[in-house]
Amino acid sequence: MATVVLRGMDLAQRYEGRGKSVVNALRGVSLELGEGATLGIVGESGCGKSTLARLLVGLERPSAGSAEMSGESTSSLDGRTRARRIQLVFQDPYSSLDPRQRVRAALREVLTFHHLHSGAEDQRIDELLDMVALGRRFANRYPHELSGGQAQRVAIARALAVEPTIVVLDEPTSALDVSVRAEIINLLIGIQARITISYIFISHDLSMVRHVSDTIAVMYLGRIVESGSYDQVLDAPLHPYTVALAQAVPVPDPTVVRPHRVTPVLTATGPTTRGCDYQDRCPLVEPHCRDVAPSLDDVGSNHRVACHVAKRRTTIE
Ligand SMILES: Nc1ncnc2c1ncn2[C@@H]1O[C@H](COP(=O)(O)OP(=O)(O)OP(=O)(O)O)[C@@H](O)[C@H]1O
Ligand SMILES: [Mg+2]
Repeated sequence: MATVVLRGMDLAQRYEGRGKSVVNALRGVSLELGEGATLGIVGESGCGKSTLARLLVGLERPSAGSAEMSGESTSSLDGRTRARRIQLVFQDPYSSLDPRQRVRAALREVLTFHHLHSGAEDQRIDELLDMVALGRRFANRYPHELSGGQAQRVAIARALAVEPTIVVLDEPTSALDVSVRAEIINLLIGIQARITISYIFISHDLSMVRHVSDTIAVMYLGRIVESGSYDQVLDAPLHPYTVALAQAVPVPDPTVVRPHRVTPVLTATGPTTRGCDYQDRCPLVEPHCRDVAPSLDDVGSNHRVACHVAKRRTTIE
């Protein structure tokens, strides 16, 4: 792997719910992101994707575990330094923009805060707007004068303004019209072709992640259940949950016949107290799965899976 720019080690997050209830939103997630690479994170609603994003960018402190950026513990970095290195782009593009601020002012604010391009801010703002293919005429617009896709481009420009090493994109296309999703994806790919930048691309939709990612991690109930290269996870999925997700991705050609029956992807019920979290939905469940939770292990060439049956089939268990 290229130089590792971000490493998450056993990250966990617990939230106090109402009354005495506790939500274990994240339960020991470890990950690595290479320089200039894209890690796609996929999983259904509530599996902890946004929680992971908030921990990685330092908006929240983990209840356990830690993260490192280029070898330095993120908790040892002050907020400003951390923000120079890692930026978060949210699902709702308007949420990161002040409705009373024109685009130029929104971008200028970031440059001023970080003392970047002092005296040449306007030129840099034009450059940033060009980078996100908006054009300079958008500099005078207010957020309400932007479409969702245009507002997301401004949010991306704002993130890029600090020249970060990493951008975490939390469902950046989910709130947008289907017609503009591909444009945003292509824009992100185009930017990465021009500058050295790493992405963490989060989505509940495998079809979005597949276009951008070099490596993919599949999350289920606060844990990674499978990870590996694009080809390993998408073309040769091992975990039954990944198989179900992959089959739920629409096949554009109606003449394509799916090899297996489509397993509906249901909403997760909650972590089990014992054994594998996926046991109640799993078509491969065995008695052993009800007793012992499978660990995430490498089955070869960095393809990792947390499933007893899959591991036995690849003969590592
Ligand atoms: N601040 C919080 N306080 C209490 N519970 C929380 C908090 N934030 C998240 N949760 C809970 O943690 C779990 C994970 O939430 P999270 O938002 O990370 O999931 P997600 O994968 O991003 O979901 P979605 O696809 O819907 O965005 C959920 O059960 C959620 O209700
Ligand atoms: Mg989320």
